[in-house]
Amino acid sequence: DWTTGNVIEEQVAAIREQVGDKRAICGLSGGVDSAVAAALVQKAIGSQLTCVYVDHGLMRQGETEQVEKDFVAATGVQLKVVDAQERFLKALAGVSDPEEKRKIIGREFIRVFEQAQLEIMQEDGPEVAFLVQGTLYPDVVESGGGTGTANIKSHHNVGGLPDDIEFELVEPLRKLFKDEVRMVGQELGLPDEIVQRQPFPGPGLGIRIVGEVTKERLDLLREADAIAREELTAAGLDREIWQCPVVLLADVRSVGVQGDGRTYGHPIVLRPVSSEDAMTADWSRLPYDVLSKISTRITNEVKDVNRVVLDVTSKPPGTIEWE
Ligand code: XMP
Repeated sequence: DWTTGNVIEEQVAAIREQVGDKRAICGLSGGVDSAVAAALVQKAIGSQLTCVYVDHGLMRQGETEQVEKDFVAATGVQLKVVDAQERFLKALAGVSDPEEKRKIIGREFIRVFEQAQLEIMQEDGPEVAFLVQGTLYPDVVESGGGTGTANIKSHHNVGGLPDDIEFELVEPLRKLFKDEVRMVGQELGLPDEIVQRQPFPGPGLGIRIVGEVTKERLDLLREADAIAREELTAAGLDREIWQCPVVLLADVRSVGVQGDGRTYGHPIVLRPVSSEDAMTADWSRLPYDVLSKISTRITNEVKDVNRVVLDVTSKPPGTIEWE
């Protein structure tokens, strides 16, 4: 019988058997898969697990706190948070090309993660021999069913590790589909904000600023994104929409009239899409009153933004993200 209870019981036993009295580490991204995988392993081996969260400063409003506070409160997991915001900003300075940004973010992520890993390995305690990954069944099928090594599509995950690190993988979600993972997460008591989270790219807001990534621009985009998310949630549209990137056209300026006079600010793009698997997508026909509310609020509340535009392109030809 497939029940979440049975899955949890079976996996907890399997993880205990696999890890024995050694230690494991797990990178948390803020996403559903790594959170549920970590929660399962935590349930199985408790303090033998250490989670690592790299704060690259490219997350949306409240997301880092969700990991640092809510996830820890729900699971009791041992968490090492690395504040690497300055480092990422420095590495990204002057870079506008999307692929270049991805490369830099991926590279810095691995470096920071490896450093954290090293520190954990140097702590007193049993050997750190295992790396937990939130690999799902569709990933297993896609990669030909192999096991034992990290199999990561380079541009689609910042959590990839180079081949020369020898950890045995613990992959407790290998038999599950996304909706099952959410059910297991819910059963494990994880907060809804984590379990029901829509897809969000590993490079985060770094690829939602068209132009150079700076602290000011990130803060501005975070504000606009928070407003859009708040209104979409309030309108009950979260389940209907696959995801809604909010994009700052930092290299574009547009003229507006606000308050006392003329402004020369930046446009924000709303990119709500409906999709089954992100391979293809259609633009979401959102109610006009919701769009209107988001537009009014963003232009009123976010400094330097004087225009909100809606992306009405399907995928193909447009990708979901702008970069
Ligand atoms: P695109 O823009 O290619 O996006 O239509 C398809 C899905 O993938 C996500 N995406 C990424 N996820 N790293 C990730 O982890 C990336 O570099 C990346 N680029 C796009 C995107 O949010 C959508 O869900």
